Amino acid sequence: MPGVLKLWETSPSGLDTRVEAFLSSLSVDSRLLEIDLEGSAAHVAMLGASGVIPGSHSEALTRTLSAMLAEARSGSLKPDASAEDVHSFIEQELTRRLGDAGKSVHAGRSRNDQVALDMRLYLRSAFREAGGGILDAISALCDLAAENVETYMPSYTHLRRAQPSTLAFHLLAWCAALERDRGRFIDAAARANECPLGSAAVVGSGLPLDRDAVARALGFSRPSRNAMDATADRDACVEYAAAASTLIMHLSRFCEEIILWSSAEFGFMDIANACSTGSSIMPQKRNPDVAELIRGKTGRVFGSLVSLLTIQKGLPLGYDRDLQEDKAAVFDLSDTLAGVLPAFVALVQALKPKPEAMEAALEAGFAEATDIAELLVAKGVPFRDAYGATKAAIAAAAAKGVNLASLGDDELATASDAFSLAGIKASELAGFVQPAACVARRDLVGGPAPVRVREEIARLYGFINEDGAP
Ligand code: ARG
Repeated sequence: MPGVLKLWETSPSGLDTRVEAFLSSLSVDSRLLEIDLEGSAAHVAMLGASGVIPGSHSEALTRTLSAMLAEARSGSLKPDASAEDVHSFIEQELTRRLGDAGKSVHAGRSRNDQVALDMRLYLRSAFREAGGGILDAISALCDLAAENVETYMPSYTHLRRAQPSTLAFHLLAWCAALERDRGRFIDAAARANECPLGSAAVVGSGLPLDRDAVARALGFSRPSRNAMDATADRDACVEYAAAASTLIMHLSRFCEEIILWSSAEFGFMDIANACSTGSSIMPQKRNPDVAELIRGKTGRVFGSLVSLLTIQKGLPLGYDRDLQEDKAAVFDLSDTLAGVLPAFVALVQALKPKPEAMEAALEAGFAEATDIAELLVAKGVPFRDAYGATKAAIAAAAAKGVNLASLGDDELATASDAFSLAGIKASELAGFVQPAACVARRDLVGGPAPVRVREEIARLYGFINEDGAP
């Protein structure tokens, strides 16, 4: 806005009014107001303690920054629309309130390290919030799994019935992915745990700044290692976007399964009315909109990742104004996750499994076939021969329109002599291929046997409770 000098102006430079609004980032970065005030407070305290500015200036700045923070929290401090960005607004406001003391806030600092710091501080809470939301999702899935350890259903490969499994085991597969997702946020947070302050514009400062003290005061593990890198790289934002993308890719897959399972065609579960919606024209419908919208949000999350990568590709070191575009992407990501994760928890809590329908899906489709081959193997038949004998038994059962448990000794013998050579009776086989027996036998680590699944649920609950919010 004409009349208010930019931080970099000592007299009006005649900036074209058409580019003034274009260059401004205030509408986006005013969201960093509180964070920037906290970073500025740590900076001025260090400037005072290091003797870079007079103690009276640092005390006045500290007092005023703390008053401004209280006003920002209560909503009474509104960035002035004429400021180029939130950083400029704060310095201009300090100068308006304090005169010369206000003008000393920027000693040893540039907006380049200031904005890099703000993004690190913003990401610190974003990483924590994502991790907490994922724990809530794991917890909701464990609650549902605990009730369905012996709810038998087919597992699928290629979306075709594969082998007997349980709903709990399937839900724990989702938990396993979510646990890694949470780990990605934690790992990225550890790498981002460096304080850029003191990097100034590009090569640091010649003033005797105490970078360790300011890093400590802001809760970082250490100062960043290279001033040029710290001001010019936004890979922490990329890592956040990549972790968010992997997370939502997983949630989208789970939601796709919920959509399929709750369809009339599968009929494996209903979604309670709290998490399904009606149609404005078709009175009979309940639609899985929550699951669909989570699936749909993958588009914008992946979009933000691509934006952050593309914004940085080809940028020469150090800071370039292109980097200003990082914020819109990161804020959109955190807003999206803040909506998606609680919605996913609500959706999981609204699932009403229909065990009879799941078990009925095991009656056709010969999901127990691999178990028969394994029974033959256990009796000494080489696997490939066991596979062939079982395939012949399937053909016999299919011709008769029954499942494998219903074949008699004669039919087994006709299918393959492997059965009688291995000493397998139809009566033994019938018990062996019951879904509960097939699942119970899979008691290796990582398998669906109820004993294993209960152990895994207990491990996950322990992990959720021990860790609390990450
Ligand atoms: N608003 C800018 C950003 O978000 C702050 C840094 C401006 N630095 C500069 N040298 N123009 O990136």
